[in-house]
Amino acid sequence: MKERLIFALDVETFDEAQSWVERLQGEVGLFKVGKQLFTRCGPQVVEMVRAAGGEVFLDLKYHDIPNTVAKAAVEATRLGVRMFNVHALGGFSMMRTMAEEVEALCDAEGLARPILLAVTILTSSTEEDLRRVGIERPVAEMVPLLASLAQQAGLDGVVASAQEMTLVRQACGRDFLVVTPGVRPATAALDDQQRVMTPGAAIAAGADYLVVGRPIARAQDPVAAARAIVAEMAAQD
Ligand code: C5P
Repeated sequence: MKERLIFALDVETFDEAQSWVERLQGEVGLFKVGKQLFTRCGPQVVEMVRAAGGEVFLDLKYHDIPNTVAKAAVEATRLGVRMFNVHALGGFSMMRTMAEEVEALCDAEGLARPILLAVTILTSSTEEDLRRVGIERPVAEMVPLLASLAQQAGLDGVVASAQEMTLVRQACGRDFLVVTPGVRPATAALDDQQRVMTPGAAIAAGADYLVVGRPIARAQDPVAAARAIVAEMAAQD
């Protein structure tokens, strides 16, 4: 079950990232590297996690013309990340071209094909935010629409809140992966997350992977916190 727990490396420096990897490698399945850490430290941070025996979820949410996203995806694949994501709002051709080029690269160079994920609608977007960019449909329609578009384009899953999981499952079936942030053990602080689910409830609701940051990072004993989350996940599976 710990293979399905992703720790968010939401830190500023390479050294902080490295000390978290040293502490948590073996306790979690993957480390999520996002825009802040990647922009500051670059591919070396991915290489550091891999050298320590860890796997990486590269959370850069690519969104650009199809060729540019495909080339970035090829480089992410060469870096050896286990999963990465793109914005489904980039469109079908962007996702399709990206998936095809990654597939072709893996065949040609004998590389492991990463898990390809889409972000549907950012959970920070309100319906008012969406209307202001011309999206009139409710989030509850946009999320399954974009998830099925990603599936048709050959992607493997989406990042979705626990609340959106049922919509995604209805639209895409059980084999399409759902990676869920906004997870909080019953005793942990909510921080800035609004709609949260406990690790056990998220697994019971059908999440394939959980992304957890502060409930582990800010715990008095982070290793114990990670183990407690894994135990709660296992009890629900
Ligand atoms: O510390 P916490 O557990 O809230 O961290 C959750 C991680 O998941 C952060 O890196 C955050 O950016 C990311 N995330 C999220 N909600 C989304 C998508 C990603 O919290 N909808």
